[in-house]
Amino acid sequence: MSVLVTGGAGFIGSHTCVELLNAGYDVAVVDNLYNASEKSLERVKEITGKDLRFYKVDIRDREALSEVFDKEDVEAVIHFAGLKAVGESVHKPLEYYENNIGGTINLCDVMRNHGVKNIIFSSSATVYGDPAFIPITEECPKGTCTNPYGWTKWMLEQILTDLHTADPEWNVVLLRYFNPIGAHKSGLIGEDPKGIPNNLMPYITQVAIGKLERLGVFGNDYDTPDGTGVRDYIHVVDLAVGHVRAVEKLKEKAGVSIYNLGTGNGYSVLDMVKAFEKACGKEIPYEIKPRRAGDIATCYCDATKAKEELHWVAERGLAEMCEDAWRWQSQNPNGYND
Ligand code: NAD
Ligand code: UFG
Repeated sequence: MSVLVTGGAGFIGSHTCVELLNAGYDVAVVDNLYNASEKSLERVKEITGKDLRFYKVDIRDREALSEVFDKEDVEAVIHFAGLKAVGESVHKPLEYYENNIGGTINLCDVMRNHGVKNIIFSSSATVYGDPAFIPITEECPKGTCTNPYGWTKWMLEQILTDLHTADPEWNVVLLRYFNPIGAHKSGLIGEDPKGIPNNLMPYITQVAIGKLERLGVFGNDYDTPDGTGVRDYIHVVDLAVGHVRAVEKLKEKAGVSIYNLGTGNGYSVLDMVKAFEKACGKEIPYEIKPRRAGDIATCYCDATKAKEELHWVAERGLAEMCEDAWRWQSQNPNGYND
């Protein structure tokens, strides 16, 4: 079976390409390299010993995207391509709506014109807003997002659901990721953020490598065991395997399906600092800072539905996530720019 991966050169996309190739799928990647390097795909080939086809194409470019679908015999699309910086989205709402929503509408139109009606979409726990209950099941109502990035995920879930309502031949899997971290065991692929990282794990790894002086912990007065924010960190390889299971789900032609992809465990910022210190053998200096606007206290999932219906569970624990993130960072201090 042939799978087209949009955003496949990125962090989650590159790890998913590895798992797809290992599972015997034929893979083509579309990425405009806005937030990625083609080197990641060279490394995917090195890890798997298999080939894939890469198209440097922007999903908003209808003509170029159509040409890809003309050439490729695509049966399903895994759609990662999009902008993802929460803070930036507040300052650049038009860019976020245009890229994420405009891009996805264009992609779906081109898919429809080529008779491809199977899509797996990268959604996010952010659609739950400040969740109505914890652990979060898929039944938890979608909430109010605090930034345009979150709204793009919220709206795209609706758009893809409407697409299935209008034409039941469409099969849509909405995957709501919790917090992906870690890297492939080889240390060859990992997260390579541009500039100062917004997210906790890449910030910690860059403190450990000496690029950043100290971590700022955003608030220690939340209603959590140690006062710092609690999240459901999931190993990116487990997340990638979840996508392979979702491709298998598409074959059941089940219409619209929604799954949380997380471990079901919540860890605080200080838990993460301690776990990472253990993995890298260094102290991670930190200071307590004010809360970050838009953050919530606690976010972790109930992953039972994915276990029952996708036959998927996250297998890698926190120590492994930290060890693998550290191996990637220490072997590639400048990411793919070495
Ligand atoms: P990433 O930035 O590493 O990957 C996204 C990829 O999309 C990049 O390679 C980028 O170059 C590409 N891209 C962006 N706009 C494009 C366009 N118009 N045309 C073609 N390619 C384009 O991010 P990631 O962490 O791998 O995230 C993948 C997806 O998962 C995103 O949709 C993101 O919103 C979603 N997601 C990520 C997280 C997270 O914490 N990393 C959590 C929830 C959801
Ligand atoms: N944090 C710090 N210091 C930092 C960075 C983060 O203390 O320098 C804290 C945050 O306050 C939060 C926790 O670490 O309590 C995790 O923050 P991240 O920025 O790593 O992740 P978020 O949970 O805020 O958001 C991530 C993605 C979103 C996605 C969401 C849910 O960035 O895109 O997970 O999937 F929507």
